[in-house]
Amino acid sequence: MSEAKTILVTGGAGYIGSHTVLCCLQAGYEVVVLDNLSNGHREAVERVEAIAGRAATFVQGDIQDESILDRIFSSHVIEAVIHFAGLKAVGESVQKPVEYYTVNVGGTLSLLAAMERAEVCNIVFSSSATVYGIEAPTPYQESLPRGTTSNPYGASKAMIERILEDLCVSNAGWSVVNLRYFNPIGAHESGRIGEDPQGIPNNLMPFIAQVAVGRRPQLSIFGGDYSTADGTCRRDYLHVMDLAEGHVQALGYLGNKGCHAFNLGTGTPVSVLEMVHAFERVTGVAIPYQIVERRAGDLPEFWADAQLAETALGWSAKRDLDAMMEDTWRWQSANPKGFTSQ
Ligand code: NAD
Ligand code: UFG
Repeated sequence: MSEAKTILVTGGAGYIGSHTVLCCLQAGYEVVVLDNLSNGHREAVERVEAIAGRAATFVQGDIQDESILDRIFSSHVIEAVIHFAGLKAVGESVQKPVEYYTVNVGGTLSLLAAMERAEVCNIVFSSSATVYGIEAPTPYQESLPRGTTSNPYGASKAMIERILEDLCVSNAGWSVVNLRYFNPIGAHESGRIGEDPQGIPNNLMPFIAQVAVGRRPQLSIFGGDYSTADGTCRRDYLHVMDLAEGHVQALGYLGNKGCHAFNLGTGTPVSVLEMVHAFERVTGVAIPYQIVERRAGDLPEFWADAQLAETALGWSAKRDLDAMMEDTWRWQSANPKGFTSQ
């Protein structure tokens, strides 16, 4: 029997990372997680191990620390890296651009340098729909050029994609998959792991979930006068387990040399008001809300053309909006204070 392949997952204690570690373990991979726990939870990895019935190796450390990276690459035979680690709050990135470029771009450069030293040339990178920029026509297609990003977070993602492309030009041995996520929400169906943001949630779904458990009095809907049917913004929300499974599909694609980008979304936009009503319908919990001023930088609507991922990776989103709501609620109601609830 052939040895199981080992995947290094940076940021594997975070929201998307923990769900992906679970899918990798269930697919038979060995997993090494590197996370500095700045926004992740050791408990998340422990719960993943309990669900999978298999252990991962957890290393607490920073992707900017080349000695830790070298130690990981010399003590494990790493087949590929899935790179989630980074800072992700759009508003905070405007306040702290140096920190965002240092961690996201600088940290990725440290990781790539260590990969080059170890001759590991396979990487799946967490990119974002934000790289299409503010002028791109919808639905977003991978053939579009990267556009004008409106904040340092988005710019850091676009820069990293460019760096990875340059790397593939420099050395034909590299295989890179940039996964451009749309709006991941939901939780594993067990309700044991899910999204646990620190402080006031920036994103819609965790905010709704925290209103539902009584941690916040009401939802503020940012803008009701957009040029959409109900006046609120539309996004392409996808279930985090579909997204996590997309990473396993991407690992299988890594034999293809060069740099490849795929949208991971459902291809269907949903408005903020439709999200609120879907949550209320599925859970039976009322969400008080108020429509307030628009949030700076929000686009009226964008969604994925998800065809290429289906053709090339054999991936498409399977779980519907009701499943996203049910699974969010199972996680949030069982863990009202996130991982510190029990
Ligand atoms: P998250 O914050 O839950 O996970 C990121 C993880 O990386 C955390 O566990 C954090 O502790 C760790 N980390 C941060 N800086 C680190 C460092 N310097 N060294 C080691 N570990 C570090 O975020 P998430 O929602 O799971 O997102 C994962 C990735 O996907 C990020 O790169 C994010 O930009 C990208 N992404 C997320 C979304 C989204 O809506 N959640 C959308 C598009 C792209
Ligand atoms: N919204 C509210 N109230 C809230 C939070 C959000 O009305 O309390 C609205 C926003 O204005 C927006 C929609 O809900 O219209 C979705 O907002 P999110 O913050 O959940 O998601 P975004 O589309 O703004 O951004 C997310 C990630 C980014 C990523 C982008 C594209 O946060 O990192 O998707 O992938 F770049």
